[in-house]
Amino acid sequence: MINYGKQSIDEHDINAVIDTLNSDWLTQGPKVYEFEEALADYCGSQYAVAVCNGTAALHLANLAIGKAKNNVITTPITFLATSNSVLYSGGKPVFADISQGVFTLDPEKVKELAGEDIDCKGIIPVHLGGVICNMESLKVVADEHNLWIIEDACHALGGKWKDIEGIQHRVGDCSHSDMTVFSFHPVKQITTGEGGAITTNNQELYEILLMLRTHGMTKDPEKLMENHGGWYYEMQELGFNYRMTDLQAALGTEQLKKNNEWVNKRRKLVQQYDDAFENINKITPQTHPDSDSGYSYHLYIIQCERRAELYQYLKDNGVNTQVHYIPVHLQPYYKEKYGYDRGDFPVAEKYYDCALSLPLYPTLKDSEQEKVISLVKKFYEKN
Ligand SMILES: Cc1ncc(COP(=O)(O)O)c(C=O)c1O
Repeated sequence: MINYGKQSIDEHDINAVIDTLNSDWLTQGPKVYEFEEALADYCGSQYAVAVCNGTAALHLANLAIGKAKNNVITTPITFLATSNSVLYSGGKPVFADISQGVFTLDPEKVKELAGEDIDCKGIIPVHLGGVICNMESLKVVADEHNLWIIEDACHALGGKWKDIEGIQHRVGDCSHSDMTVFSFHPVKQITTGEGGAITTNNQELYEILLMLRTHGMTKDPEKLMENHGGWYYEMQELGFNYRMTDLQAALGTEQLKKNNEWVNKRRKLVQQYDDAFENINKITPQTHPDSDSGYSYHLYIIQCERRAELYQYLKDNGVNTQVHYIPVHLQPYYKEKYGYDRGDFPVAEKYYDCALSLPLYPTLKDSEQEKVISLVKKFYEKN
């Protein structure tokens, strides 16, 4: 089967994990701090905090910034973890529709919602498939309404974009947000098996994140209320065990070294899909709202006619595609608990009805991509 996504592991990755197995540390230790430093450097942020998965990263980011019972604006076209993280933190996700033809959070809809009397405290935009949200417009809305921003960049490690003045920004530099969250699940740009991280430039948030990652504990003599000796620690917040292991971090550091090369490979594959589908009128190729961009594509999402039949036809012929995503507001839990229903976010729902993610990963061979393309073409020629 050719899958829609796949990890890339080489000898360097394997040796890094074996070396760590032979070291004194297995759980959070020097390899985690090394990975955090490399990640912050790569993203251009001051701080990075590595955790056990992207969901935990979102949870901690929400807790660190939003202690009140916040309403938070986000997109319905995302993985469940984005909006669930708001619920875990005692808040309520409030969905805004996506932009027509772009499929990320619509800044105009966010502006409308932020202006309503719903006591909103933050925005979580999601860089769907690696397409970077309009961060400049979202930041304007956030500043006007005193909202924080957590970027869900679980799909976008290594992405770049240019602002209106032509200044380049890196995903994770937090130039237009308070924090940025990543996932290192195997289908993502880089993997640590399970893993996630938060980047930020805010020292106060950084210190809260460190505490929350380890049970809300501190051993920092400057923060202790009492000090009984070298063994002494205090729990000052209700935190979790969301730590990453040194085994995972060693793998992450090796993977990160290759990401720029992988981003380029992904971009080349995207271009090849675009060229192949240009003249098939039953398909709209992957959207690129900023054609000059440096997106790091996680997914190649087409809009297509007769999606369910195409999905099955590809599967029967050895190609596993996927749909990203079923709109979160249509999940039974959200419908029952919050009264959402079909018709609430028409752009998102129409997007979902036609969306299909085709295989995209750095080790996808040209011959494999050609097979996918020719199957898609054959399907529409036949039908
Ligand atoms: C947009 C988005 N946010 C959050 C997550 C959660 O990441 P993880 O699976 O590492 O918990 C994912 C993972 O699929 C995701 O796609």
